[in-house]
Amino acid sequence: MCGIVGYLGEKEASSVLLEGLKRLEYRGYDSAGMAVLNGKGVAKAKCMGKIAALKDVISSQPIHGHTGIGHTRWATHGKPCDENAHPHTDCKNRLALVHNGIIENYLEIKEKLLAAGHDFRTETDTEIIPHLIEVYYQGNLEDALINALEEIRGSYALAVIAEDEPQKIVAARMGSPLVIGIGKGEYYLASDIPAFLPFTQEALLVEDGEVVILTPEGVKLLDSQRKKIERASFRVLWDTTMAEKGGYKHFMLKEIHEQPDVVSETLAGRLKQTGISLEIDLPKFKRVFLTGAGTAYHAAMIGKYWFENLAKIPAEVELSSEFRYRNLLLSKETLVVAISQSGETADTLAAVREAKKQGAPVLALTNVMGSSISREASCLYTRAGIEIGVAATKTYVSQLTLLFLLALKSAQDRGTLSHLEFQTFLKELYRLPELVSLTLKKEQEVKHIAKLFSGRKDFLYLGRHVYYPIALEGALKLKEISYIHAEGYAAGEMKHGPIALVDETVSVVALALQSPVYEKTISNVEEVLARDASLILVTEETNKQASKYTNNLFLIPETHWLLSPILAVLPLQLLAYLIADKKGCDVDQPRNLAKSVTVE
Ligand code: F6R
Repeated sequence: MCGIVGYLGEKEASSVLLEGLKRLEYRGYDSAGMAVLNGKGVAKAKCMGKIAALKDVISSQPIHGHTGIGHTRWATHGKPCDENAHPHTDCKNRLALVHNGIIENYLEIKEKLLAAGHDFRTETDTEIIPHLIEVYYQGNLEDALINALEEIRGSYALAVIAEDEPQKIVAARMGSPLVIGIGKGEYYLASDIPAFLPFTQEALLVEDGEVVILTPEGVKLLDSQRKKIERASFRVLWDTTMAEKGGYKHFMLKEIHEQPDVVSETLAGRLKQTGISLEIDLPKFKRVFLTGAGTAYHAAMIGKYWFENLAKIPAEVELSSEFRYRNLLLSKETLVVAISQSGETADTLAAVREAKKQGAPVLALTNVMGSSISREASCLYTRAGIEIGVAATKTYVSQLTLLFLLALKSAQDRGTLSHLEFQTFLKELYRLPELVSLTLKKEQEVKHIAKLFSGRKDFLYLGRHVYYPIALEGALKLKEISYIHAEGYAAGEMKHGPIALVDETVSVVALALQSPVYEKTISNVEEVLARDASLILVTEETNKQASKYTNNLFLIPETHWLLSPILAVLPLQLLAYLIADKKGCDVDQPRNLAKSVTVE
């Protein structure tokens, strides 16, 4: 996730761009930059670090001009550094471009451009775009961009300026957000409305496949067939704080609703018709050992089942805070998978170091490029974008998606699935963003149930096999943001003790989804109902029996049972959020917690 801005008008572009970038800093802040047309050509300023660092650069070397574009980066391809900061330019520095998204086929395009003599200066995927535009540019920026886009596969919101057309910005969108702001004789563009809200409240949405041309004459919008379209602008009624949260009351709710896009980003370039392709080669291994803390541990637990079921590899899992105190007898044939959103959790970092000491290959799954863990191990990024809410939501779902890809890739390498089974998983993964979106559309149903249960004091979350870690995660979400007592249990363990707690004051959230453990879980549901507990059931929309047990149903779309945990956790995130909000809790910053735990 990165943030882009653009300005065309009478004001000093650099000040407007800085103001906009500051408001987009939540989208990433490992480096920032801008390019302004100053009458002589493209003037650029860019540096590693936050917007404040860029501001210092511009104060010492001011850039003057009235048309410009800016960027705040959250690195995906290429480490955070001055060179990799946007804007990127063509060979002759006559074009400058900012981009949010991922270009999937950049390597093949880059090879072609290098062979044609283009001069590349960065490690980014983005840099191929200005070079490709340069190939097509003959004095009309939109024509050149449209030709270039035909060669590009991936996601983007991008904006480009050209020295030869000093009063023009051209932008395009595919899979990453882009909005236009319309002022009096001036125009803005941004990844998100807050960037231009201090200047104008009139906005125009850009849809996927569209190209926008901003000039002093106005906004021209072209559809995916390159035909001119008319779209009415609208007035933004948010105040600035609301706008940063995209109109949502809390960051946590915004992040929950970002999950369809996040899943798409995690899959981008890795899920292909022919199979799974990861950015790094996996070492040869006979055993896998997964570790993490809190929510990341719950992801690791599900990863264990996926490695066992898909790749038929013995898998073990341990809390990172316990990892180094065990005598794990790791070897170079054990792949240690360390999961950490922040990449800074002290226990997980210590586990990585211990595994390396024992000679095991370590693969880190993290969300933050340049984090300590990413520097100490080979790494795959979850690409969930910055998560501001302390309770992990979108980063958990991105960890699950990446773990599934990893287990399926191991299955592919080992040939442990039949062609039909493998194709089924690919098909379901292609559908996953849409299934996540459909599940989240049921928020109203969850809201109704959250209202009924918000006054209750004790919750038990029950699930078996892949749904057991989801039960733990559902309970963790509720306790950490609403301060209500909640426990997750393996449903089969109930009768070995915890069932003694169950009476009419207890609320049970049971995960009973079509799978080899469905019937056994339903037996546990019967047991708690017989003891007068209030029940919420998470199951598929197609389950005709569900209403026999309760009216409190969280219904999810059908998919393969090994993938359904990714959908099942979504209503539990919403339930926790809605109950905590109803209780008036500080959802985004719950008491006693910190986003990143860097002490042991
Ligand atoms: C819970 C939560 C924590 C983190 C844990 C590990 O919502 O966010 O349990 O999952 O502190 O953090 P990372 O993944 O940064 O290592």
